Amino acid sequence: MPPTPRTKTGTKKLSEVAKHLVLPSGIVSTGWPAVRDQCRKMGVRHDEWQAGLGRAMLAKRASGLYAAGIGGIIISICRQVGKTFTIGSIIFALCIIFPKLTVIWTAHHSRTSNETFESLQGFAQKRKVAPHIRQIRRVNGQQQITFKNGSRIMFGARESGFGRGFAGVDVVVADEAQILGNKALEDMVPATNASKNPLIILMGTPPRPVDPGEAFRTRRNEAIELKKLAAAGEDTESDMLYVELGADPDADLDDWDQVAKANPSYPHRTPREAILRNRKNLADDDSYRREGLGIWDDDRDTAKGIPTKLWTDSAVDEPLDGAPAYGVSFSASGVRMALAAATVEGEWAFLEQLDADEGALEDGMKSLAAWFAKKDEAGHARWRRSRGIAIAGSAHAPALKQLLRQQGVPG
Ligand SMILES: Nc1ncnc2c1ncn2[C@@H]1O[C@H](COP(=O)(O)OP(=O)(O)O)[C@@H](O)[C@H]1O
Ligand SMILES: [Mg+2]
Repeated sequence: MPPTPRTKTGTKKLSEVAKHLVLPSGIVSTGWPAVRDQCRKMGVRHDEWQAGLGRAMLAKRASGLYAAGIGGIIISICRQVGKTFTIGSIIFALCIIFPKLTVIWTAHHSRTSNETFESLQGFAQKRKVAPHIRQIRRVNGQQQITFKNGSRIMFGARESGFGRGFAGVDVVVADEAQILGNKALEDMVPATNASKNPLIILMGTPPRPVDPGEAFRTRRNEAIELKKLAAAGEDTESDMLYVELGADPDADLDDWDQVAKANPSYPHRTPREAILRNRKNLADDDSYRREGLGIWDDDRDTAKGIPTKLWTDSAVDEPLDGAPAYGVSFSASGVRMALAAATVEGEWAFLEQLDADEGALEDGMKSLAAWFAKKDEAGHARWRRSRGIAIAGSAHAPALKQLLRQQGVPG
């Protein structure tokens, strides 16, 4: 069979390479052309999808403010695709176009932060960029690139406390967003309060189960929800830009087409050897799946509350009576709780999400236990009218069971 002709990966559009692309709403213009022109003057040529990313990042509403200025720019892309390169060149262009622009660029690990600084200070020394640079400060912990027009980029690692307590910042770049708790993000965002048109960029690879990835995951879930609503024809308003690139959830790890799917820079910018080296350096297949192929654990069958086999094996042919069965589940991180009820009426089975508690989980569990104990007019507690309550999630299941017993619900 003759080889199928392929379009050069570098010429693919963002919408073609992205697994998820959720644009902010209300876009009327974009700051991209000026940035693109400045990049060209610096000798940078972006691939099609990178240009699309820049156009979306700098999209503006009628107010002239960045359309993603409130919800932020959230980017989930695996290693070696060109995150640092693309965002770095855009930030340099912004620094040159807007005098006195202040940028903080953080990573979780010092090593990553140092690598980024090294790469961008190398960029700053290029013949076409150097004339714009006043100073490069290499002092550890205070790495900074200062532009002649007063703009500057400060680099540092969140693990050493960098990013907290800043003021007067216009752009925040949080690399390794998979390791960024809500608290750490809350510490960083106020730095931009005084800025007229701030940008907050979170970028990273899918989080490991041990990572404090809730800030990243929450935004991803929001984006996917928005995408579903929009697909269902609902009018949605989005304050954020969400971009995710990744291979299929069940990708064969040795399949180079899947690498190409996850990484639009492969093979023309990131060669096969670099991918193989990366794979060798990662601890195991799961790490490679996340960091090398951009696959979220959440999308894999193992992440499903009920594995497919158990689900099909448990199916019954005959409808049961109409009494509801309840299920309570806790998120892997233990910070969220969900309650669902299933009822069967005639031939139909209904599954309903009843209540999800985001806030104080302990209070939520107490009121949930009380809800199960609540009596109807006939004096029957709710749990008595149910087929059972299944509780999943090792983190809090024992505590909830205890609360239920206290309410007189047998366990
Ligand atoms: N438009 C481009 N022009 C030149 N080099 C690029 C371009 N896009 C990506 N690259 C190169 O691809 C490689 C991976 O990019 P990098 O920014 O380090 O990836 P990441 O931050 O996603 O790990 C680097 O060698 C980078 O210089
Ligand atoms: Mg990088």
